[in-house]
Amino acid sequence: MTMKQLHRLNQPILLNGIYTDTYPENISSTRRIKEFCMLPFLFLPFLLAYALAHGKGAPYESYGILRGIYACNYQMRNLGSFCTPEQSEVYYSYGCGCINIDYLATFVGCLHIGNRDNDATLDKLIELCHHDFNVTISRENFLKAYDRYLDAAKSPSEIEGFNITIPVDVPLKINETVALTYTRAYDNFLGNYDDSLYYGVGILAYWAFVMLVASIANWSMIICPSLVQKCTGPFSTYWRKYITLPALARRNKTNEQKFLWFLDFIVPSRFETLVLLGFVGVTVAGCSAGIQWFEEDPVFTKRYAAMCRYVADRTGIVVSVYMPIVILFAGRNNFLQYLTHWSFATFITYHRWVARVAFILVFIHAVCFSLTFEEYFSYYYHQNYIIWGAIATVAGGLIMFQGLLVLRRKWYEVFLIIHIILAAFFIGGSWIHVDELGYVWFYYAASAVWIFDRVVRIVRLIAFGCPSSQVILLADETLKVIVPKPKYWNAVPGGHAFIHFLRPSCFWQSHPFTFTESSESSDSIVLYCKVKGGITHGLYQYLSKHPGQTTQIRVSLEGPYGGPTPSSKYDTAVFVAGGNGIPGIYSEVFDLAVRSPDNTKQALKLVWIVREYKSLYWFYEELCALKNTRIQTTIYITNPDSHAHLDEFNKRFPLVEESESDSNSNKEEKETSLEEKSYNKIQESSDEALPSLSPEEDYQAKKKIIETIHSELAHVEFKVGRPCMEDLVVQETKESNGSVSFVTCGHPRMVDDLRYEVVKNLDKADGKRIEFFEQLQVWA
Ligand SMILES: Cc1cc2nc3c(=O)[nH]c(=O)nc-3n(C[C@H](O)[C@H](O)[C@H](O)COP(=O)(O)OP(=O)(O)OC[C@H]3O[C@@H](n4cnc5c(N)ncnc54)[C@H](O)[C@@H]3O)c2cc1C
Ligand SMILES: NC(=O)c1ccc[n+]([C@@H]2O[C@H](COP(=O)([O-])OP(=O)(O)OC[C@H]3O[C@@H](n4cnc5c(N)ncnc54)[C@H](OP(=O)(O)O)[C@@H]3O)[C@@H](O)[C@H]2O)c1
Repeated sequence: MTMKQLHRLNQPILLNGIYTDTYPENISSTRRIKEFCMLPFLFLPFLLAYALAHGKGAPYESYGILRGIYACNYQMRNLGSFCTPEQSEVYYSYGCGCINIDYLATFVGCLHIGNRDNDATLDKLIELCHHDFNVTISRENFLKAYDRYLDAAKSPSEIEGFNITIPVDVPLKINETVALTYTRAYDNFLGNYDDSLYYGVGILAYWAFVMLVASIANWSMIICPSLVQKCTGPFSTYWRKYITLPALARRNKTNEQKFLWFLDFIVPSRFETLVLLGFVGVTVAGCSAGIQWFEEDPVFTKRYAAMCRYVADRTGIVVSVYMPIVILFAGRNNFLQYLTHWSFATFITYHRWVARVAFILVFIHAVCFSLTFEEYFSYYYHQNYIIWGAIATVAGGLIMFQGLLVLRRKWYEVFLIIHIILAAFFIGGSWIHVDELGYVWFYYAASAVWIFDRVVRIVRLIAFGCPSSQVILLADETLKVIVPKPKYWNAVPGGHAFIHFLRPSCFWQSHPFTFTESSESSDSIVLYCKVKGGITHGLYQYLSKHPGQTTQIRVSLEGPYGGPTPSSKYDTAVFVAGGNGIPGIYSEVFDLAVRSPDNTKQALKLVWIVREYKSLYWFYEELCALKNTRIQTTIYITNPDSHAHLDEFNKRFPLVEESESDSNSNKEEKETSLEEKSYNKIQESSDEALPSLSPEEDYQAKKKIIETIHSELAHVEFKVGRPCMEDLVVQETKESNGSVSFVTCGHPRMVDDLRYEVVKNLDKADGKRIEFFEQLQVWA
């Protein structure tokens, strides 16, 4: 710790108007320009490299031994003067002991009270004199100084014409009682710095504990499933029914909660809420524990001033300590996801709330600090570190508003760009703010985590390459993207990847989609993207203009992320998908069926709920591929009377017939994939004008199509209307030979309903273990 750091941290002395030394900032214009140039959103990586290269920002050093030095120094200031004003200009108060024997004698005399003149303290003084003032003193000097103190020290009343501002030429006697008061004051004040660090680490330890418990619980489902599935007793059921599985209250978890007319928000689950409440609890405890003031405090004579300063220091340090996890939780490449088996969406939930608490702490820090120094406003508010602290606070405040769900939903890309810029200003501003205070290492760590995530993302993109991929608009609602993948790229069932469509208008956007392995080629994966209002709508419009509504687009994929649930370990695995939630669910159940074709002990059920028949069109090959598997599939059509886009099936049926006859006879000819044939067919037929039909003919034609669908998919049971989730859960549990898992992805309301019913029926399962796995992730 340098003098300058000590000086800055000791600024409250100014508050009392007693000590008016100021450390010359001497920030040259070059340095100012350099810092300004390090605008964080562009230069975070360089900032890190720069800091490392220049060894800037000394690591935090405990105040243990410094408390005594400070206490004595301050007591002596209030007692008398030793150095001349000219010497003080150069050596300030602390350095006076390096050149003035009476100062040093008084100092050692003071340290002697309470045995603070130990080796470590004396070594520290030697180091300070050498490091900051280039003055060499030795142990010898201390011995001589103490002898002088014992021989010659006088109390001010013994010195004729004593004046506190006029330097004395003898050591001053230190009153022991007063010395202990100063010690106590500095234990409160500087001890708070050390405590803040420990409490900050305590908050990290809280997260480590929670994650350790979650890791054990989630990994045991994979490592020792039979043991877990035996846990159906009252305690385990109660714990899961009331703590780990349910939404916070009633149903809404993936579905947003309406609040006022625009303040919708995503409610954390009950377990997440408890974890967050625990976090808030330890944060409040960590930010208030041990903060105290006493009436005779010579450093802070007013309680209000002491409390403001202590709280400002505590909140500022605590928030710095846990800043790395705020960033880590937001990253896609967060190793904690692997450890805990928590989804990215869960981490984003924690990121949001931890960041909100962080901002509250920053705000309290800023307000308390401002109150502490209100009398010195003009002195502080032009200082660089204060300016950057203020910038960070404003950036953090803006994030609190720009991150509202309504904005994320409406303009996700705008939200994201502004969020990154503001977060960079927040981290960069805080970095500069604490650069010389010993806490900058936490911002190195936060930036390193951020940079690591970005680098891994870029490496993944580069490794994947930019293959030309076929994109087809199907049934006017879904984009089918067939992406050739590199050999090393493992299409993990239930995983998702972020896709960049490399078109000038949107190449920078990355959107998450689940995928299936192509049924035709293990070298391709297929993404099914529902047409919404942003990039998918842009592609919809682009493809609408193309013949056959298909074209080749270069894409790049980042992933895979996520993966399968532990449903393979359950006697019955029920997969429930809604609408475009099917690809990930399908890939998981299909993988289970293919990977363990002989495992007939496990019942595999697939339930897919779609609104119209047209939705089957874009997933038809996959549905056909279920034919020879042991997956029992049920499709619910909630609006069977809608015949929109049914005639598109005409392009496909001849193909299906053809493909089946082919497969029976001449397999070698099947060089061209089913998908390619399909889209060649679409291409060919797109220009053919369909004969205009009378309404009756049209109705009959569509009826025929539906009949053909039913006969082609005879292995699928079709039902009309929405399924009753309660009946589904009760029925499947009853039919199961043992444990049952429900895995779901689809419309948030559907997912929430299924969770609700699973939770409701947990204790009515005749000792069978029921599990719920949510594959839907909602963070926007
Ligand atoms: C893990 C995961 C897997 C998904 N898999 C599929 C899938 O297989 N098929 C499918 O149709 N949809 C899937 N989605 C949803 C899909 O990512 C969005 O529908 C898509 O990003 C919307 O793009 P857009 O620009 O057209 O949307 P917009 O019309 O701009 O937005 C529609 C909705 O999507 C949200 N959204 C937009 N961009 C993103 C983004 N980059 N990340 C997260 N949410 C975003 C918005 O907040 C809004 O709520 C998945 C989402 C997640 C989180
Ligand atoms: N991992 C992920 O996060 C992930 C993965 C893939 C997809 N997605 C997203 O998930 C969403 C899937 O929804 P979608 O828009 O495709 O679905 P949708 O078309 O709105 O709904 C699909 C079907 O679900 C039915 N349904 C809705 N709520 C239900 C409920 N509570 N109980 C029973 N059935 C219900 C609907 O019935 P009605 O006709 O009666 O409404 C409809 O038939 C998409 O937005 C997609 O982008 C996310």
